[in-house]
Amino acid sequence: MVRRSLATAVALLAIVIAPWASASDSASVVRGGRLYDNWSLESKGRAPNHPNPAFKSKQARITPADSWRCVTCHGWDYKGVGGIKGISGREKTEPLAIAALLMDANHGYGELLSEGDRLDLGNFIASGQTDMGRLREQALRTKPGQTLSDKVYATICANCHGLDGARLRQVPPLGDSARQRPYEVLHVALNGHPGGDMPALRTLGEATVAKMLAYLQTLPSINLAASIANGGRLYDDWQVHTGGQRQALPHPAYPPNAYYASAAAETWRCKECHGWDYKGNQGQYANGNHTTGIRGIRAFAGAEPEKIIALLRSSTHLFGAVLKHRDLQDLANFVRYGQIDMDTLIDPRTGLSRGDAAQGAAHYRSMCAGCHGLEGRFVAKRHAGRVTREDPWHSAHNMLNGHPDDTMPALREIDPKVIGDILAHMQTLQERR
Ligand code: HEC
Ligand code: HEC
Ligand code: HEC
Ligand code: HEC
Repeated sequence: MVRRSLATAVALLAIVIAPWASASDSASVVRGGRLYDNWSLESKGRAPNHPNPAFKSKQARITPADSWRCVTCHGWDYKGVGGIKGISGREKTEPLAIAALLMDANHGYGELLSEGDRLDLGNFIASGQTDMGRLREQALRTKPGQTLSDKVYATICANCHGLDGARLRQVPPLGDSARQRPYEVLHVALNGHPGGDMPALRTLGEATVAKMLAYLQTLPSINLAASIANGGRLYDDWQVHTGGQRQALPHPAYPPNAYYASAAAETWRCKECHGWDYKGNQGQYANGNHTTGIRGIRAFAGAEPEKIIALLRSSTHLFGAVLKHRDLQDLANFVRYGQIDMDTLIDPRTGLSRGDAAQGAAHYRSMCAGCHGLEGRFVAKRHAGRVTREDPWHSAHNMLNGHPDDTMPALREIDPKVIGDILAHMQTLQERR
């Protein structure tokens, strides 16, 4: 009797400890894959603040934390990066030996990773590596059409990513990632996302995952026109538009002696430092209450989106901490493609629209009166005619891009002359008393 229950207890114990103990265990292998991707996210451990001494490349985009990720040095294809050897030579090696190697002078993970984490990494390296080139070739040979992986996507992944792969704003649309970074997407599909709830597909087999890549590569990119207009709304007020908390401390780049320094949230709006005419200290904000002395963004029209995103994440701006990837992408698209020369619409000296008010009246009645009334109904306690006389650059920006967090249409895809005409008409609208 006693013996029997002891045997049961041992069996139960074996079941309980099995997930950690067995070398070929699938949970350990995929966890190792996620640690390889980003161990500090997966294990909730902190990466050191200083760059990894083994990281020799001078690439400015790699942050100190990223220099401690295995993938930074050993690659998404496991073949090594920038002259550093890959991990592919250690397939079928004893996992414990790999775990020991992570404490060597090249690595120094002894303090950073627990024994269990190092063993998971060992299991991944010993039995979790995939021939990425071969999977990608397989994906290229996959014919479009309903395959099992399309259905797997629709039923497993679309819950979070949306059927078009673009629902999550913290990452690029999956279609773009799959086209631009196929090995990374394969690694994530096989092992799951570090620190996340995404299911790992490894056990469905490599063929399914290769077909999944082929399917993901057919998903749409972002809609550029929508992205630019959304970027314009974020430029106006990203705090209102993203529905997040308004900032309680002034933006560090805002001059402490300038007029709005005590209105913390205002100082975080792009427009407050760079102006509604995008000309900063060379435009309407050259003097008056909005003066900061900060230059405009006109020189960045046409700049590479990656360069603009890096600038927005920089220590000058600090937007990486408060905005999601897609927001930064939309802002970059706005800066790159969305700026207009306001002087073509509005005389910078008089503030009068260069458009034709009579022509504008008809457009106003059809497109705007539904919400603003024929007479230019009050807009948040202010009259739309009055605000358009006082700050036509603000009105023009809103007409082109819409207003943060509401349904007002963005007109940037229609003839700019129409915008000038409506602006001229609005400047004639008088307040009724
Ligand atoms: C900053 C760069 C860097 C990072 C980050 C890094 N390694 Fe390495 N790794 C190296 C270097 C350098 C070597 C020595 C290889 C050589 O001789 O070129 C190495 C060797 C290895 C080897 C042995 C390769 C072989 O065949 O000899 C394994 C396995 C390995 N690393 C795993 C990892 C794992 C797992 C992580 C993450 C926990 C990691 N490495 C993070 C730089 C790095
Ligand atoms: C439970 C929700 C959830 C499910 C289900 C899910 N994902 Fe994810 N996935 C996420 C989240 C959240 C992220 C972003 C993680 C982050 O913040 O970096 C992500 C990120 C990714 C990324 C990285 C994108 C990039 O550019 O960095 C890929 C690739 C991916 N998922 C693929 C898939 C696939 C394929 C499936 C289906 C097998 C799937 N996901 C299922 C939530 C999910
Ligand atoms: C608190 C003030 C402040 C805010 C808010 C701000 N910026 Fe800036 N921005 C700066 C400063 C300062 C510079 C550096 C300009 C200089 O060197 O004089 C700069 C530079 C830029 C430049 C490069 C201009 C050039 O010619 O070098 C771009 C583009 C830009 N910002 C975009 C944005 C966007 C988009 C936002 C909103 C998400 C934003 N900024 C919000 C202060 C600000
Ligand atoms: C679907 C309803 C809707 C339509 C249609 C609409 N608007 Fe708006 N508009 C709004 C809302 C809501 C606001 C924000 C008002 C607020 O802050 O109270 C707004 C704000 C504005 C502002 C900014 C005022 C400010 O100082 O914040 C201007 C200018 C403006 N609209 C012009 C127009 C013009 C011109 C048209 C036609 C081309 C138009 N709107 C069509 C709903 C609409």
